Amino acid sequence: MNTAELTRSPIRQLPVQLANQIAAGEVVERPASIVKELIENSMDAGASYIEVDIQKGGLQLIKIRDDGHGIPEQEMTLAVQAHCTSKISSFDDLTAIESMGFRGEALASIVSISRFEIISRTESQQMAWRWSNSSTDSTLSYQFEPASHPVGSSIIVRDIFYNTMARRKFLRSERTEFRHIEDVVKRIALSRFDIEFVLKHNQRVVHRLPQALTADLKTKRIEKLLDKQFVQQALLVSYQASQLSMTGWLSNAGYSRGQTDMQYFYVNGRIVKDKVISHALRQVYQAVLPPGRFPAYVLNLQLDPQQVDVNVHPTKHEVRFRQIRLVHDFVNHVIQDALNKTQSNHSDVDDTFVFDREEQTVTEYKASKHTMNEPSSGYSGAAYGGASSVGHKPVVYSEPYTKETQPASSQQGLLGTVIGFCQPYYLICQSQQGLVVIHLLRVAQHQVEQQWLQQFKAQTINKGGVEVKPFIFPLSLELDAQLCDSVDNYQDMIQSLGFDLSLQTKNTLVLRAAPAVLQHCSYGTLITQLLTSLKLEKKIDGATLIPLLSRFVQLDKHSESKALSEWQQHLDDIERAFANLCVDSPYKNKLWRVLSVAEVNKLFQANISAKLVDE
Ligand SMILES: Nc1ncnc2c1ncn2[C@@H]1O[C@H](COP(=O)(O)OP(=O)(O)OP(=O)(O)O)[C@@H](O)[C@H]1O
Ligand SMILES: [Mg+2]
Repeated sequence: MNTAELTRSPIRQLPVQLANQIAAGEVVERPASIVKELIENSMDAGASYIEVDIQKGGLQLIKIRDDGHGIPEQEMTLAVQAHCTSKISSFDDLTAIESMGFRGEALASIVSISRFEIISRTESQQMAWRWSNSSTDSTLSYQFEPASHPVGSSIIVRDIFYNTMARRKFLRSERTEFRHIEDVVKRIALSRFDIEFVLKHNQRVVHRLPQALTADLKTKRIEKLLDKQFVQQALLVSYQASQLSMTGWLSNAGYSRGQTDMQYFYVNGRIVKDKVISHALRQVYQAVLPPGRFPAYVLNLQLDPQQVDVNVHPTKHEVRFRQIRLVHDFVNHVIQDALNKTQSNHSDVDDTFVFDREEQTVTEYKASKHTMNEPSSGYSGAAYGGASSVGHKPVVYSEPYTKETQPASSQQGLLGTVIGFCQPYYLICQSQQGLVVIHLLRVAQHQVEQQWLQQFKAQTINKGGVEVKPFIFPLSLELDAQLCDSVDNYQDMIQSLGFDLSLQTKNTLVLRAAPAVLQHCSYGTLITQLLTSLKLEKKIDGATLIPLLSRFVQLDKHSESKALSEWQQHLDDIERAFANLCVDSPYKNKLWRVLSVAEVNKLFQANISAKLVDE
C-alpha cells in the first residue's frame, strides 16, 4: 500500500444535517435569502396577508406569519426534510413550474443552520401544530407538539449560522442586513399587489402595504416603495400577444437614473436577472437616454410556464427561455412601442438638449414651451425628471474621436477606424490609405442577399433551407386586390423564400413570418414587389427574386445614435464578412470608397481655384 492509499478516507454517505448545511450554502447567503424563501412559501400557500418581523437585521430573529392554507399535521415533519415538496411530483411538473418553490430544499436548509420553529394550522384542523429543532446538537433532534395559531403558518428563525460560525463572519452590520431584507420585501411587494405586506424591524413598522387591487392603489404602493417622480411620469404598459403578455410601468425618455437601482423585471411573478431581457431593454433605451443614464421599470412578463425553465440556479434568480428570440423581440417591441407613443403624443414639445458627454452635464438647453427647473445642475433626478419633461426627443451627441476610442491594437484592418456616422447611411473611417466612406445601406443589403441566397440554395440540396422568424404580431398588409388574389397561386415559391403569407380579406394579406435575415425592412413594398414579379414572370426563380427583394432592406432606425465603439464593432463584422472581396474587386466600389489624402487635397485645390475664379 502506498502512502496516498494509506491516507485516503473511505467513501461514506454524509449525515443528513451536514448534507443540508451544504445545500444551505447555496440557498442561504444571508438573512434576506431566508426572508425570500419564507415569503415565497407563504405566497405559494395562497396567503393574502404576510407579516415579516425582524430583530437585529435578521441575525437574531426572522418571523414570517401568513394566512395561507397551512400544513396538515401529518406533513409537518416532512416539510422540513430535504427533497420533500408538495409542489411537484414528476418530471413533467418540473417542465411547467407555476409555483415559486419546487426544489423541496429551503426549509431543510434553513433548519440546518438556525434555531427553527414552525407553527401551522389548516382549515380542517381544530388546532395548530408546532415543530421545532433543539438547541446545539449536531444531529437532528426535534419536538412536535400541539399549539395555538389561526389558519396559516408562522415560521420563526433564530440565531442564523449559530452552528456554522465561519459563515456568520461573512454577515455585515445589522443595518446592511436589514437593507437587504427590505429590498427582498420591496421586490416581492412590487409584483404581488393582491397581498398585504407588513415589515417590522426591532418592533417598529417600516412598511405597511395594504392590498392594492385598483390602478390607483397600485400606483400608491409604487410611490411608497420607489419614487414619486417615477410614478408621475411612468408609462403604463399592458400588452397581450398570442403567447406572451407584459404589464407594468416604465420610465419615459424624460426620466432616468444614474444607476440601475430601479429596475424590476419579473417573469411569471418571479424577479429575474436575465441577459436576454436586459439586452432587449438596453437596446431601446440607449437610443433615448444619454450614456451613463439608466431607465426605471417595474415590468411583469407572463408566458406559458413550459416556455421558461426556472430550474437553472438554486436561488431561482436566473431563468432560461425556450424561445429566446421571441421573448427578446417581444420585450423590445413593447418597450419601443410604449416610448414611441409618448414621443408622438408630445410631438408639440420642441426641446433640444446638447450634451457634453465627457462632462456628463447639460451644457445647453432650449425649450420653447417650458423651462427646466435647474438647467445647470447636471443630471440630477429633479432636473431631468418631472411631469413637464415628458416627450423629450432622443438625445443626440457626437463623440469626439480620441486616442482612447481607438482599438488597442495598432494593426488596422482594410477599413480602418471609425470616425463617425453621417446621415443618411455613410460610415466614415480613417485608414492607412486615407478616408474610407462606407455605404452602410448597400453593405446591409448585400449581406442579406448573400445569406438569404445561401440558405435558399441549401434547401434544394436538402440542407435546411431559409431560416424563418415568426412575428409576435402578424402584419396586416393592404395591397391591390388583384395582387392579393394571386397569393395562393405562388404559395410554393413564397414559402420557399421564407414567408408565411396568406389572404385575409379581398385586399388584405397577413404576414406571419419572414426570413430571419430580413431584420429591418419595409415589408409592404417588399411583398408588393414579390407578388408583382411573380405575376409578371411566372417562371422567375428564387435566385433572381432574392437580389431584387434584398433592395428593400433598411438600416436599423437607431443607427444615428450608436456609439463609436458599437460602430467599430460593426466595422469589424463587415471586414470579416467581406474578407474575400479583394482590394480590386469591382463590386467593392459599390460598397465603400477609399479617398487617399492626395485625392482629398485635390478636392480642396479644385474648390479653392473655383472660388478664386468666382471672386
Ligand atoms: N408557509 C407555508 N404554508 C404552507 N405550506 C408551507 C409553507 N412553507 C412551507 N410549506 C410546505 O413545506 C414544503 C417544503 O417547503 P420548502 O420551501 O422547503 O420547499 P418548496 O417550497 O417545495 O421548494 P423550494 O426549496 O424550491 O422552496 C412546501 O412544499 C410546502 O408544502
Ligand atoms: Mg419554498
